[in-house]
Amino acid sequence: MNARTPSVSTDIARVEVVVIGAGPGGYVAGIRLGQLQKKVVVIEKAAPGGVCLNVGCIPSKALINAAKLYEKAAHGADMGIRAGGLTVDFAQLQKWKDGVVAKLTGGVRQLLRANGCEYRQGTATLLSPRTVQLVEAGSQKEVLFETEHVVIATGARPVQIPNLPFDDQRVVDSTGALAFAEPPKRLVVVGAGYIGMEIGTLYAKFGSQVTFVEALPTILPGSDAECVQVVARKAKKLGMEILLGAKAKGMVEKGGEAVLTVESKDGDVQIPADKVLVAVGRRPNSENIGLEIAGVKTAGGFVAVDRQMRTSVPNIFAIGDVAGQPMLAHKASKEAEVAAEAIADRPAAMDAVAIPAVVFTDPEIASAGLCAEEAEKSGHEVKVGKFPLSALGRAIANLDTDGFAKVVMDADGGQVLGVHIVGGGAGDLISEAALGMEMGASAADIGMTVHPHPTLSEAIMEAAKAAQGEAIHIVNR
Ligand code: NAI
Repeated sequence: MNARTPSVSTDIARVEVVVIGAGPGGYVAGIRLGQLQKKVVVIEKAAPGGVCLNVGCIPSKALINAAKLYEKAAHGADMGIRAGGLTVDFAQLQKWKDGVVAKLTGGVRQLLRANGCEYRQGTATLLSPRTVQLVEAGSQKEVLFETEHVVIATGARPVQIPNLPFDDQRVVDSTGALAFAEPPKRLVVVGAGYIGMEIGTLYAKFGSQVTFVEALPTILPGSDAECVQVVARKAKKLGMEILLGAKAKGMVEKGGEAVLTVESKDGDVQIPADKVLVAVGRRPNSENIGLEIAGVKTAGGFVAVDRQMRTSVPNIFAIGDVAGQPMLAHKASKEAEVAAEAIADRPAAMDAVAIPAVVFTDPEIASAGLCAEEAEKSGHEVKVGKFPLSALGRAIANLDTDGFAKVVMDADGGQVLGVHIVGGGAGDLISEAALGMEMGASAADIGMTVHPHPTLSEAIMEAAKAAQGEAIHIVNR
């Protein structure tokens, strides 16, 4: 329930839109609404940029990139590059990472201001469909915003498992794991999904002994199975141990270390650990924001929305992680633009053909659209074209040949139904596939488009040609 905070004084302010949350959903909504000449206030209780900029996408990519650089420097001998006395100053690395975050969050504040959007720090609660209470941290004062519209962009938080609660010391979530003072000697990662695999891999590169405990029979469930195999091979090369079909049952402290009991196929096993990262999914932040009082309906914890991101209460919108899967920053930003346009009475709807997804593992997995099995299940007869990076000049010159590009094509019309890439730089390559699918491209369209040489993008062109049996740099079968 939603109790009014006792306050010394109350200010009343009138605006057209209140956005609750300033992550990649909320701050983009604020900017776009400002551009559309709306009087808008964005309220954030933590820091501008949300999880993504502060404790998620950006800091993780900074550390992942540093780990990659370190690995490359340590293994440059094939190229004749021998780096003697290579060391990592982890405190400096963390300082640099914090600087990257500060630069971006500062940029968000500036952008909001430049677009005429007010930014307020504090906790926002709906008191009615048109009233939002703001309580600033440490303040006895409240502001009541009387507003025409509300955009809920409150994000999601890590799921906690009861027998392994977060304590910010031994058992941490992704936020804690990205802030380690030094790489833990032994890191146990519970959950080998997006977060677990990305963070586990980076610490393995910095020398941690990493063990994954994953309940399902595969790592990265939901990703293209062939792509996952490439990542699993590299994980093994990096010395990471992966226990599949395994569940953490509990943990005890013993002689200055933690010992996890893990239920596995071979019975219970004990795993010692210095740090435990629990990354078993995230759940929407839909509680304690006054949704019940405003009459906003939820389904399975998510705020239920239509294609304009409108909730069951017509003047209230919801975007990003709180409004449903997939929990991806770029999906939140797109939904933010749709909601802002709808509020400004412009025609807009969330109608993306493909929302690309990237897992920043080693190598990266990037996909857009359906995998072959999904396409077949949805009634298509498919042809699949695959092009290995080991046959690509640029990948060989990069000394980065693990992986491939794969195009799933409708066998009748030739339309591209999905593209899956595993390999270095996959995340930067996938946008071509998303654009192609948005525009209804056929594999022939992509195959006939001139791609610059020597670049990794040629892999997509060749895979599109391979789907038609016409690849140039591999033998077609
Ligand atoms: P996830 O859903 O990707 O993976 C969670 C994993 O934990 C699954 O493999 C699941 O089988 C396993 N699991 C669940 N309960 C378990 C248990 N008791 N014991 C062992 N394993 C268990 O969730 P994750 O990694 O926490 O990430 C949450 C979301 O954040 C992702 O779904 C994604 O949408 C987003 N994200 C996106 C990133 C990106 O775009 N690169 C990076 C990180 C997160």
